[in-house]
Amino acid sequence: MTQATDKDRVLIFDTTLRDGEQSPGATMTHAEKLEIAGLLDEMGVDIIEAGFPIASEGDFKAVSEIAQNSKNSVICGLARAQFPDIDRCWEAVKNAAQPRIHTFIGTSPLHRAIPNLTQDQMAERIHETVTHARNLCDNVQWSPMDATRTEWDYLARVVEIAIKAGATTINIPDTVGYTAPAESADLIKRLIAEVPGAEDVVFATHCHNDLGMATANSLAAVAGGARQIECTINGLGERAGNTALEEVVMALRVRHDIMPWTTGVDTTKIMNISRRVATVSGFPVQFNKAIVGKNAFAHESGIHQDGMLKNVETFEIMRPADVGLTESNLVMGKHSGRAALRDKLKNLGFEVGDNQLKDVFVRFKELADRKKEVYDEDLIALMRVGEDPENDRLKITDLKVVCGMHGPQTAELTMIIDGAPQSTTQFGDGPVDATFNAVKALFPHSARLQLYQVHAVTEGTDAQATVSVRMEEDGRVVTGQSADTDTVVASAKAYVNALNRLIVRREKSAPGEDKREISYKDVS
Ligand code: KIV
Ligand code: ZN
Repeated sequence: MTQATDKDRVLIFDTTLRDGEQSPGATMTHAEKLEIAGLLDEMGVDIIEAGFPIASEGDFKAVSEIAQNSKNSVICGLARAQFPDIDRCWEAVKNAAQPRIHTFIGTSPLHRAIPNLTQDQMAERIHETVTHARNLCDNVQWSPMDATRTEWDYLARVVEIAIKAGATTINIPDTVGYTAPAESADLIKRLIAEVPGAEDVVFATHCHNDLGMATANSLAAVAGGARQIECTINGLGERAGNTALEEVVMALRVRHDIMPWTTGVDTTKIMNISRRVATVSGFPVQFNKAIVGKNAFAHESGIHQDGMLKNVETFEIMRPADVGLTESNLVMGKHSGRAALRDKLKNLGFEVGDNQLKDVFVRFKELADRKKEVYDEDLIALMRVGEDPENDRLKITDLKVVCGMHGPQTAELTMIIDGAPQSTTQFGDGPVDATFNAVKALFPHSARLQLYQVHAVTEGTDAQATVSVRMEEDGRVVTGQSADTDTVVASAKAYVNALNRLIVRREKSAPGEDKREISYKDVS
């Protein structure tokens, strides 16, 4: 059980599977959610917010299963300030060894106006719903959404009501990333000093990153007295995202001299989970992102390299191994066998079953034939390719493109669609455009391309390209990824990967049934 009373211990509340998964296109499959929850549990995260059970059948099932499987972490579900939400949330979390209900309502003037509740009506709603949650579960978290833009008097009043009704954790969200560090610290300090009963609960901080201050604001809130930080892996989350777990945890570790608080997180597991979240969410980590970016420990300039050779501390404030980063080394060649591949993947954090190994091994051999040197990053990219090729309705079997200065840029594409091979030749503004036109000609659809992104996995002209695409159709947002030494082939496969996911989503949810239709404002 987490030691909420230990004054120097900061609880880490991870909301990758709820707030993180809410970012458009970051939807994870059921199996992926379970896997990420397992990794969070293993790395010592105190509380996992596993989802929003009333939002969809899928969320409910994921939260329930995570609740049943978790070994160490408290498992929490989100609920709006309504009895049916809270009941559904309790249904989902009740089998956890340590369940928690997290209920919230928007308390700022802008948020009160949406359900059209007066201050008194909302106060009454808070009293009723927190009491109801507490009658079901003895671990209840309450959040006044948009707290940082709520009038001080009203905020203090509703926090007191929630504490009296039985909330055990009071979370103060900076929902729109509006606050700044000094203000963040003062707000928590003042609530603790002035609200009756504040000494009996844990105060939490939940910061969004719209102005790039989420991590600083979270740490400032801890200095003000908060003892729970809400965060996500890689800072995943709507708009500019949330406080990044890896940033707060490493900041508290590296600057323990001025921030004397500890967490229970095993930092050596950070890199692995960061990579898995990037893979399953389809949101690659920017190269220069603190702690987990590809360049976070890269030293390129001559002066830096010279200093590093003399003493690593000249340019490094933490060791790569502290976050679980092993040297990127030449791993294998075309003569390596299955056992070696399985072993290497395990070291990189991928547990693969026999069937998956068979598939990855074929792709590894193809890659090793084309690319002299296969690095850790290449294998990680291989693991990103579409998760269930057996069940894919669309498969590319051949692609030839004509590109160059004098066009016309042309794509000759053959795909198997529902078991039947079909071919076409199409033109476009460049080889990728021609290829996407060819896919669309063979499989007409109305999905709109929202994002097309290419990254080189390693250095060199034979580097693999990883391509991510995001598409939207009738409010359903899907992402697709692929990797190949040929950028156009990677693009085509990523596009088709997204379409395969879209087909599954079409079958699972009618337009308007997607969980994003569940609105935070719907509290009447
Ligand atoms: O940002 C926010 O206010 C939230 C609440 C639901 C806690 O995510
Ligand atoms: Zn949030």
